[in-house]
Amino acid sequence: MYRVGILTASDKGAAGEREDLSAEAIRGIISRQGWQVVIYSIVPDDTEAIKEALVGMADRDGVDLILTTGGTGFSPRDNTPEATRAVIQKEVPGIPEVMRAESFKKTHRAMLSRAAAGIRHKTLIINLPGSRKAVVECLEAIMESLPHGLDILTGRSGECGTSK
Ligand code: MTE
Repeated sequence: MYRVGILTASDKGAAGEREDLSAEAIRGIISRQGWQVVIYSIVPDDTEAIKEALVGMADRDGVDLILTTGGTGFSPRDNTPEATRAVIQKEVPGIPEVMRAESFKKTHRAMLSRAAAGIRHKTLIINLPGSRKAVVECLEAIMESLPHGLDILTGRSGECGTSK
């Protein structure tokens, strides 16, 4: 059972002008995995606000995994990857590489996501795109190998030997 934080970056969502369907989709997938969403937050697309929320969830709340949604595209207000890179110590490029590769099979626009992923202390942070559909497609692409990564990161397993 892993403890998960969900962070939505959305100007409209933070202003209460848009229902947060993406966060609900993440919550559903995480619950089905048997993990627990212990904190959910929605912030505007400001780099500082996103950084502060990520650091709070990782350091104060001690979650094992933070899934962000939104702010990975090309608009001037899309700042989530930059905020993420500013707070991680180690980048994990394989996760967004797989999300883009798998998503590209469904929509070529998947290559427009600048999503990042990385490790802050013992917390894995993964950026997902903003739409509900994209969130589901991306999470499905990476879910199988996430438990093993989290097992290693949190020290529940020291073994990478068995391949799956
Ligand atoms: N990834 C998947 N799997 N499915 C999608 O429909 N949409 C793309 C991309 N990634 C999409 C996707 C589009 S249209 C954009 S603009 C980028 O994600 C960035 O989205 P964001 O700015 O909402 O984070």
